Amino acid sequence: MIIFNNEGSLLLKFTYNLYLCRLIDMEKNQAKKRIEALSEELRTHNRNYYVLNAPVISDYEYDMLMKELQTLEKEYPEFKDSNSPTVMVGSEYTGENGDKTGEARVGSFFRRERHLFPMLSLSNTYNAQELYSFDQRIRKSVGEDRKFSYICELKFDGTAISLTYRNGKLERAVTRGDGEVGDNVINNIIGIKSVRKDISRKLMEKLGRIPELMEIRGEIYMPYDAFDRLNIEKEKEEEPLFANPRNAAAGSLKLQDPEIVKERGLEMTLYQIASEEEISDTHEKNLELLRYCGLPVSEYTSRCDDINRVMEYISMWDKKRSELHFPTDGMVIKINEIPLQEELGFTAKSPRWAVAYKFQAERALTKLVSIDYQVGRTGAITPVANLEPVLLSGTTVKRASLHNADQIRLLDIHMGDFLYVEKGGEIIPKITGVEISMRDNNAERPVFPDTCPDCGTPLVKPEGEARHYCPNRTGCPTQIKASFEHFVSRKAMNINAGESTIAKLYEKGFIRKLSDLYRLTENELLQLESWKEKSARNFLDSIEKSKKRPFSSVLYALGIRHIGETTAKVLTREFGNIDRLSGAAREDLLAVDEIGEILADSIMEYFSNVKNLEVIKELREYGLTFAEESANAVSGNGPLSGKNVVISGAFSIPREEMKNLIETNGGKIQSSVNSKTDIFVIGEKCGPAKIAKARDLGKEPVSEEELYSLIKNNNSHEQR
Ligand code: IVH
Repeated sequence: MIIFNNEGSLLLKFTYNLYLCRLIDMEKNQAKKRIEALSEELRTHNRNYYVLNAPVISDYEYDMLMKELQTLEKEYPEFKDSNSPTVMVGSEYTGENGDKTGEARVGSFFRRERHLFPMLSLSNTYNAQELYSFDQRIRKSVGEDRKFSYICELKFDGTAISLTYRNGKLERAVTRGDGEVGDNVINNIIGIKSVRKDISRKLMEKLGRIPELMEIRGEIYMPYDAFDRLNIEKEKEEEPLFANPRNAAAGSLKLQDPEIVKERGLEMTLYQIASEEEISDTHEKNLELLRYCGLPVSEYTSRCDDINRVMEYISMWDKKRSELHFPTDGMVIKINEIPLQEELGFTAKSPRWAVAYKFQAERALTKLVSIDYQVGRTGAITPVANLEPVLLSGTTVKRASLHNADQIRLLDIHMGDFLYVEKGGEIIPKITGVEISMRDNNAERPVFPDTCPDCGTPLVKPEGEARHYCPNRTGCPTQIKASFEHFVSRKAMNINAGESTIAKLYEKGFIRKLSDLYRLTENELLQLESWKEKSARNFLDSIEKSKKRPFSSVLYALGIRHIGETTAKVLTREFGNIDRLSGAAREDLLAVDEIGEILADSIMEYFSNVKNLEVIKELREYGLTFAEESANAVSGNGPLSGKNVVISGAFSIPREEMKNLIETNGGKIQSSVNSKTDIFVIGEKCGPAKIAKARDLGKEPVSEEELYSLIKNNNSHEQR
């Protein structure tokens, strides 16, 4: 009540109200700013996760930011953006391709297709309390007396996939994308052993009918052993490693070469059927049906009649999960009864009938004892932390890579620090932080060496690269031995020699440059400790055989910095032989989609070194293969013979068929237009930037129909 005869009190009240309004305004202002900042931050994290496959924060941290945004938006709906990360599913970005490993792939390679039903996400819980709240919410919504059960499943840590079966036949395999539209990666999926192309007979047997359209959803994941193998190879090649099996699975699925995908050892598990038609009345029966159809379904699922049983099952897996041979990041809890699922429905982002329970990443604290600086094959120096042994996810961790000088600086590591080591789904332990409160007052920052720890040559740090290198490629013993180990390796020259043979040959002074291998004599080999005639002859035989290795393997074997197996294949496809490659201008290299500046510079640098040219000349004289033998090309007389062809966009026939057609008519597929391109065929949705770039190079695009008539006309010319 305002007392009019008391001016002071009135003024006070007025001032107080003004103050309150100001406070509310300030709060509103702050809330608006915070909503904007959070939205921006979450968008960046979405991009890191969905587009780059390189998240920089944990799922937990992400969820906390998301929760804060949701709460603020509820309180201040006037500031909620219609494109807020709270309403977007997955990535807003269509270019899912690419990850930080920079593996060869092209944005428009896959056909983008719309899911029949949106691919949603799951809301996360992190502790028993949150899980009990989920259960209570459901009970409240459906009525306390309603009987239902839960199905608990492992949450596979891979990348989501949706298989469309039309009349029981596999029609496409589409990635999540933005939840509405994804990439059809069917050609890469076919290489996965457990994929079934036709389940019509089994569906008929079990259901007595074949549903017209079914989307069967699941996860493509990479088991730990395959992940290890892949990263060991990448490490050898000094290519960036995959941070975890999830990124490796997502990255591999987007490769352009199904053969390479096949070698990656991906696996699949299926856990959901989406269809307009009723398939069965419980989730459990749906899983049984998938199993019956010969499709892969996890054996680690359990029906639980109440939330306490669910919690017990989760606790059991939380302890046992380290025994699994594949990565999991939690459990998924789903209501079993489909009619109840339908009643509960979905929010904009996730089903109300299911929830994820996320396991905590395993973390340990241990002391940094010392840092080794290792020299790699291409001279890259990697700092490796020697740690006081600590038990983590069932293995003892003693060493962990610190990657490069920037990483040490970023984490602000001091000698003797206590470091946090994590193994959250990752096989290679990761140093995630420092416990500063335990730092010794006198602790000093590590000093990154300025000379090579092996040969003493001053180190260099190329611009734009995070690593230091020893530039003494032809004189640094570690680099020389490592370059031989790489040269003889299975995917390179496949010569029967291990690390110790190379070391012995090096110590004796028999090998210094790669071509020395081809002039080794039996006499020299017999001088090696414990070598007999038979081993010497076997070794020489395998050296002889290596001369038949294809050009792409030889190119890879040369050990050009950053040129891994995939890039060697790309270069072979684009340039065909060593002369064209060594003579290519930087622009020609950059014109290849998969070749960026770092790769182009590395190739230019390699071929500008006379010592390398000398080795190539000698290897050539010894009879190694330095030109591609095209298997597909119609030996020189097809209608497209000698023509370099680039295809871009979507065609009336699948891309692989289109490529085959061109190759069987003598054409050579290039991945992007450059000065050597003869025919640039464009289909639907070919990006205007590509067309403009081609025109700049004087290459006028032709349509799919024009290509067909070109083949037809040239064929009939030849027949006449
Ligand atoms: S059910 C409506 N079951 O986790 C979403 N998802 O974080 C239904 N995932 O998008 C998904 N294992 O990619 C389901 N047993 C499982 C799963 C699983 C892994 C993935 C899936 C999903 C993501 C949510």
